This record gives sequence, C-alpha cells and structure tokens, in this order.
Amino acid sequence: MMQSDKKGVVLVTGGTGFVGQSTVRRLMQAGYKARILARKLPAGQTDHPLVEFCTGNVVDGQGVESAMQGCTAVIHLVGIIRETRFQSFEQAHVQATEIVLKAASGAGVRRYIHMSASGTREHAAAQYHQTKWRAEQMVRAANLNWTIFRPGLIHGPDGEFTKMVVQWHRGKAPPFLFMPYFGGGPLGQRAVARVQPIFVEDLADVLVRALELPDTEKRTYEVGGPDQFTWPVMLEVFNTVLPKPRRAILGIPFWPAKALSAFPLPGLPFNHDQVIMAGEDSVCDLVAVKRDFPGFAPQTLEAGVRSYITTMRPD
Ligand SMILES: NC(=O)c1ccc[n+]([C@@H]2O[C@H](COP(=O)([O-])OP(=O)(O)OC[C@H]3O[C@@H](n4cnc5c(N)ncnc54)[C@H](OP(=O)(O)O)[C@@H]3O)[C@@H](O)[C@H]2O)c1
Repeated sequence: MMQSDKKGVVLVTGGTGFVGQSTVRRLMQAGYKARILARKLPAGQTDHPLVEFCTGNVVDGQGVESAMQGCTAVIHLVGIIRETRFQSFEQAHVQATEIVLKAASGAGVRRYIHMSASGTREHAAAQYHQTKWRAEQMVRAANLNWTIFRPGLIHGPDGEFTKMVVQWHRGKAPPFLFMPYFGGGPLGQRAVARVQPIFVEDLADVLVRALELPDTEKRTYEVGGPDQFTWPVMLEVFNTVLPKPRRAILGIPFWPAKALSAFPLPGLPFNHDQVIMAGEDSVCDLVAVKRDFPGFAPQTLEAGVRSYITTMRPD
C-alpha cells in the first residue's frame, strides 16, 4: 500500500458503511487520504495516516461544509434502503444530495462521485428509486465534474443482503425452514425478476478509479457483476458455496407480501418498496463501464462469496 496522500484528500460520506469501508480501503491503496463523514464514529477506530474521521449529518447539514474543506474530491455514498423515524427517502437521498452538492461547490471541490442505484428512473414505482432519480437530476444540474454509478444488488461479507442470505441458509432468520424470494403466480412459484449482483470490492474499485478518468465525467454508469440470475438461481449459488445441508428455496407470492407491507406491523422483515423492487429486473449492460474502465472484470457471485464466506462470523 502506498503511504502517501499526495493525490489529495477525498471526502467519503457514509464512509463507515458497507460500501464506504471498501471504498476507503481502495482510496488508501491508490494513495489518497480518505476523510470519512458519518453521524457516528466507529467503535475502536485506530489512527491511520491516510484516514480522518469527522462526524456530521448530510440531512441537516451539520459538519458537512467543514468536512469539505481542503478536499480534492467527494464520493457521496449516503443512502437508505428503508425509511426510519429519523430519516425518510426524501431526506436521505434528495435533501442530503442538495446539501453535499452545495458544500462541494462552496468549498471549490470540483470532482464529485455519486452513488445511485439500478432501476432509478423518473416514474419508478418505488419511492427509493424516485428519490434516487431526483437526486441524480440535481447532480446533473450541478456545475461540477460529476460521475453517477447505478449498481444493483451489492454483495460482500459486511453487506445486509449477504448476511441475510447466510442467516436464512443457517435457519436462523425468518422463514427459518427455507430461503425465500418473492415470486409470481398464486403460490409464488414463478421467478419473475433477474438480478446482477456485484462484489463490493469490484464496485469500490470503479468508484475510486473514476477519480482519475476524466472521460467518466458527466456520465452515468450502470454497473453489476458478470452473472444475471433469477432470484432462486442466485440463492442456489449460496447453497453451492455454503456448508451442507442444502436449504430449500421457495417463492412467497407477491400479493400477500404487497398487502402486508402496505400496512406494516412492527417486525415485518421487508417494506413495501422492497417488495416492489423485488418484482423488477435489476440487470444492466456492462458495455459502457468496460469501455471506460479498462480491465474491469468483476468476479462471479460464486467466486466472490467463496473468497469471503469463511471470514464471516458464525452468528
Ligand atoms: N447495499 C446495496 O446492495 C446497495 C445497492 C445499490 C445501491 N446502494 C447505495 O449505496 C450506498 C451505500 O449503501 P450501503 O449499503 O453502504 O449503506 P450502509 O451500510 O447503510 O451505510 C450507510 C452509511 O451512511 C451513513 N449515514 C447514514 N445517514 C447519514 C446521515 N444523515 N449523515 C451522514 N452519514 C449518514 C452511515 O453512518 P451513520 O449511521 O453513523 O451516520 C453509514 O456510514 C447508498 O446510497 C445505497 O442506496 C446500495
């Protein structure tokens, strides 16, 4: 690893999260100094010459302007998959992006990398996608050298998705007896949507490489791994890689899931947006990302999971 920050300081909003941690590691390997902005500092953080931590909140703006001072670029990762009492999609995606863009402009930070998501479009059915779309539009209108990335499902040992599948496989999370997916037909037997999971390290790699590729400025990239699967076929990859016994894979029909999530009771393990998005394809064409990121060769889901599965904690 290069131990120099001569390439400058890069602010990473959400740098303590799943994608953020891999992105920060990549920045350090590439010789940047990473400045992490999050609401809470991670427990047991240790000093490192190439990492700085600052607390702040991209929704109310606290600490964002000062975090931006002296940076050469910003990678804006903050986003949420479910709304909470404290943070709506509107706040975490639209309001936060407005604040980060304004702070970047004010501090003269010209290079701006933005994390969006596959399926983002103007009239999307899911609020998640709608608010990601409005954030993207603000980025495009900003007078900055921006690049937008739209990954679909991201996997890695610290990701919520991988942890959930592993728990299903171990029979430790509902529905306990099988690995579920949302399916069409009265019994949920029909796989309707395809996904294209990307390994978090492959994603972090393009986020960081974009900083030094001027041809990627003012472009939006769909990005994914090499495999396109239906949900049950993807879950079967985990059956192949994880220790025996194999877990059954069964569909849950969309219609009761939609009805339940429209009036959610506490403890329901999915929300309305997640049910909607599970019924939509989340796949992409890799032509543009391969053209503009020479050598981009993301790992298959099976190879990626094999590379980290033994490092995951047993719980
Ligand atoms: N994971 C996926 O499969 C996936 C797929 C497509 C797109 N994405 C997008 O990728 C991005 C990163 O996702 P992730 O999975 O890495 O999320 P994550 O693990 O939940 O991390 C979120 C990060 O944002 C910080 N954060 C949240 N609210 C904040 C606020 N108001 N102010 C400052 N920091 C805040 C969190 O730290 P604190 O809680 O301490 O503030 C944490 O560092 C998101 O934009 C997401 O929509 C993710």
